Parts: sequence; structure tokens; C-alpha cells
Amino acid sequence: MRIALNKNFQKLETNYLFSEIARRVTDFKRSNPSSEVISLGIGDVTLPIAPTVAREMALASRGLGTDSGFVGYGDTLGTAELREAISRKYRSRKIHIEPDEIFINDGAKSDLGNIFDVLGKNEVLIGDPVYPVYLDASIMSGQKVRLIRSDEKNGFLPSPRDLPTSPFVIFLCSPNNPSGATFEKEQLKEWVEFAILSGSLIIFDAAYESYITDSALPHSIFEIEGAERCAIEICSLSKSAGFTGIRCGWTAIHKEMPIHSLWKRRQNTKFNGASYISQRGALAALSEQGELENAKNVSQYMKNARKIADFLKSRSICYTGGKNAPYLWFRIPTKEKSWEFFDRLLYSAGVVGTPGIGFGAGGEGFFRFSAFAKEGDVDKALSRLDKIL
Ligand code: MLT
Repeated sequence: MRIALNKNFQKLETNYLFSEIARRVTDFKRSNPSSEVISLGIGDVTLPIAPTVAREMALASRGLGTDSGFVGYGDTLGTAELREAISRKYRSRKIHIEPDEIFINDGAKSDLGNIFDVLGKNEVLIGDPVYPVYLDASIMSGQKVRLIRSDEKNGFLPSPRDLPTSPFVIFLCSPNNPSGATFEKEQLKEWVEFAILSGSLIIFDAAYESYITDSALPHSIFEIEGAERCAIEICSLSKSAGFTGIRCGWTAIHKEMPIHSLWKRRQNTKFNGASYISQRGALAALSEQGELENAKNVSQYMKNARKIADFLKSRSICYTGGKNAPYLWFRIPTKEKSWEFFDRLLYSAGVVGTPGIGFGAGGEGFFRFSAFAKEGDVDKALSRLDKIL
């Protein structure tokens, strides 16, 4: 073939983090077919979705088989009802965002990468360690990247303090993946002030906001004054309502941001909207009853998080997260590198976690456990880990 390919892909690691984990688990299972593997690795939900959501999607699905309930293409930007429900959700936090400032997506991950379609070449600021999609997507689109360390010194939350006042595209994630650390209002305010002063754009990933338990912590960047002029927010129902397989979320962009009209134009050309059934499910998930049922799952995952936290404490292993986030991040108690530790846990305990290096060089020597598991599996995993840690 003689067509030119995107050479930026040559700069990526061979495998995406979670594909590499899946590859290693498959290898392990091939050589140990009778071993039961327990995953505290990828943050994938394990509990059934809320009954209210399941019922609504069944209704939507049955309706599609009838004359009166059939629908074809929907509004590319999302159904009016769903956008109104999200706007209402923001209003309940005293945030004003109009339904036409909300773009329904098929989960946060797509938009976190697709956003580069409407941006030129910029310098992108990315925490290290952090969710690998930010870095991979930036590299794929040929952006210049500047990594900022998140470590024990700054509580695994990057700060703009030592940055030059030049314009950056800034990825922020709170509650943070992988560290589970969560920005306080004052810290987010610093970022918003920096973005306004420097002419930067903040892309705020709020996928884990429903895990926040401390009432003083911000759930949205738009709780900070001025954020409507410098930030967009990408959110998802994956972790809050168990939509990792169903796929639905949203991107919020205020109209005063020039990016709003570009994103609308982009979506109208390249997207035909999230699936109708998912959007009906999402609407039910955001109803009062749906929120109540979702909260039960969230608290079950947080119960798991507390068990993992107690285990780490009992080993005197320092960790972050697990309080306002479903992830626990800790320094590996031995001298092993994070992939070595991963392999040891897999081969000697049949437990899968996520190696810190997968989230960036700054994650070497660290490891992440996810609380997205069945409680019995968490108990079993911890009793196996008890024997080897
Ligand atoms: C994670 O484990 O970091 C996340 O589940 C990955 C994702 O949400 O794409």
C-alpha cells in the first residue's frame, strides 16, 4: 500500500494499557486453565444496572418493534429529554448549563480523544500518572505534550504553580484516575484562574464524580466561577450507573466558548448520536428513582474500597483514594517494578490489578486496585493477597 499513514502511531506504546493487561491474563489462563482469576484491574462495573434503567430500555426496545414506538435517526446532539435532564442535574448543583450546551456521547472516552478534531496544534498538559487516554489521544493527533508530575508531594494532584503563563490544553481528572485523589475547590480555582490568565482550555473529566462522599468537594469544574469561559466537562454514566457496556455520557460546553459551535459542527458531521436505547436508559438513570438505585451500587463499590483500604492499612501500605473514588493507589511494598508486581499477583494469587507504569512513567513503583468487583470476589482476592503480601 502506498498511502500515507498517521506516523504519530509509531510514537505510542505497542498496546493500550488495558489491552496489554488482557493479553497477559489470557496467557495466564492458557497455561493455568483451572485457576480462577479475580479482577481488581480495569475499572469495569460488575453489579447489575438499576431495575428502573433495565425496564426503561426493555420498553424502548419493545417500542422499536411497533409502529408507534419506532424511531430512526435521532438528534445528533442527543434527545431533548436527556439533555434537559442533565441540565437539571447541573442546576441541582447551582450550575447553569443549557440543554443546547450538552452533547450526548457514547461514553467519555470517545470525546476525550475526538476533541482534538476541533483543536489545532497546541501544547497539551497531562498529569503523570493519569488515565492513559489523554496521552495516547494527544500523541495520535500530533500534539506537543508536557507532563506534570503528580506524586506524594502534591497529593497526586497536579498544580499550575510552576507553569509558564502560556496557553495549554489541560486535562484534569477528579476524582482522579488512577490515584483516587480529588481536587478541593481552592485547588480547582487555581487551575481556572491559571487557564483564564494564560488563555488555556481545561478538559475536565468528571467520570467518577458520583463517588465523591465529602460534601465540600466539587463534582464539576463549573462549580468554579469563570470555568464556563475556559473549561469543558466530559462525563459518563459508565461508573455512576453501570453503563460501561451500554455506552452513554455527555460533554458540556458553554456557548460562549468558541469551541461550542465547532464541536456542534463536528458532531453533526461525524456522529449520528448515541443509541436511542442507551439514551432512554440514561434518562431513567437520571430520574429520582434511577439515582436512588444507582447510589446503592455506588455504595456497594465503596464498601469494597473500604475493605481494600483496611487491607492495605493492615500491611502499613500507604495509599491514596478509596474515599471519594473507587480506586486505591499505593506504593508497591517491595522493590519490584509495577509489571513485575502485576505478574507476581497474577501468577501467585490469581489477582489482577493495574501496574502504575501504565498510567505514565511517574506511576512506576505504584499499583492500582479497583473496587469495581463483586464483594465476595474482593474478600477472596484479599485473603489470597494476605498470603503473599
Ligand atoms: C480504568 O480502569 O482506568 C477505566 O475503567 C478505563 C476506562 O474507563 O476506560
